[in-house]
Amino acid sequence: MDPIIWAPSDITRIAASARRVTIILACKGGAGDARHLAMALSIHTELLNKTYARKVRKPGFGGALRGLFSSEEERHQAVSELSFSIRRGERVGFIGENGAGKSTTLKMLTGILMPTSGKVLVLGLDPWRQRRQLASQIGVVFGQRPQLLWDIPVQETLSLLRTMYRVPKDVYDVTYRQAVERLDLGPLLSVAVRKLSLGQRMRCDLAASLLHAPAIAFLDEPTIGLDVSVKEQVRAYIRDMQARFESTLLLTTHDLKDITETCDRLLLLDRGKLLFDGSLKDFERRFARKRRIVLELERPASEAARRELAQELLALGGELQECQGHRVVVSYEGEGAAPALTQRLLTRLPVSDIVLEKADIDSMVASIYRRVAPAEAQ
Ligand SMILES: Nc1ncnc2c1ncn2[C@@H]1O[C@H](COP(=O)(O)OP(=O)(O)OP(=O)(O)O)[C@@H](O)[C@H]1O
Ligand SMILES: [Mg+2]
Repeated sequence: MDPIIWAPSDITRIAASARRVTIILACKGGAGDARHLAMALSIHTELLNKTYARKVRKPGFGGALRGLFSSEEERHQAVSELSFSIRRGERVGFIGENGAGKSTTLKMLTGILMPTSGKVLVLGLDPWRQRRQLASQIGVVFGQRPQLLWDIPVQETLSLLRTMYRVPKDVYDVTYRQAVERLDLGPLLSVAVRKLSLGQRMRCDLAASLLHAPAIAFLDEPTIGLDVSVKEQVRAYIRDMQARFESTLLLTTHDLKDITETCDRLLLLDRGKLLFDGSLKDFERRFARKRRIVLELERPASEAARRELAQELLALGGELQECQGHRVVVSYEGEGAAPALTQRLLTRLPVSDIVLEKADIDSMVASIYRRVAPAEAQ
């Protein structure tokens, strides 16, 4: 399909019925700015803000009683000047501590909440004003609040959704079969939703949200409360559906394995602000600089050998962190130093085992949270 070039102000006029729309922003830099012109956006936000008004409640019974009649409010900025763009088919993980503003952002992107200020376009539509047109093109899961109808068996819920979304037969045949096979829904189909366990309900919720092969899947904690093997099942299903329909994926989670297994780009939110936006590889390059070589020795090294080795390692970019008994730990930064350090260690010490360790994504993210988040009551 040849791209149509729209000025940003025209974007909301793009035919809402189109399932996939290629939007190319005409920017001030004109034809010279090929990078921007080449972007086909699924999601675009500019200086997006959301402030909640919260009633002030004083502690104690008296305070609660007074709160009923008082109109005193405090304002809480949950999302602050958030700007990012996601291209069609991208697989983006959205992380941040509890209360960072992830769900609030997803609610604004899906038309559930109206932004306080700023711009947001999803498939060229304003999610709040055009949420009806948008609804048929997106799939949404809020893991903390499953959405299936309570008293109806799963099979009927899926059929109802098929009718509501007017899912074509060929699409339904694929998505339904995939859901039943990959998420093991067979034994659950005749069971009423209210009788399902949390993990079973979550699998059904996910199947329901992707039944119409949406152009964008917004998944807010789709693996919350699932056991390890079901998590694997859910990740494989998400990966499969994303690849099959080239959907855009925006997924929030506190289990970073969800991200490493289904996404290649990361947005990290810190108290409403975007702290990192880039590929997983960039994230690693930026935050996983410290690596370790851990050695097991046949016999402990002498004090003199230890001192000499520490000096030699320093010259090669390493630091002897630990050398006690049979265990030696050397730390270093960057990718290049490992071969020379390893070679030196093997020639100097009676090594019986050696392990090279990289910081994993959990420890990277934990150290970022520790660095950026002073204890603050939200
Ligand atoms: N309806 C609401 N009214 C007032 N404040 C709210 C409301 N919903 C969320 N908040 C506040 O906005 C902030 C962001 O909440 P949000 O649910 O977006 O965080 P989150 O990143 O999704 O957190 P979690 O990882 O715990 O799900 C929090 O401080 C929360 O207390
Ligand atoms: Mg949330």
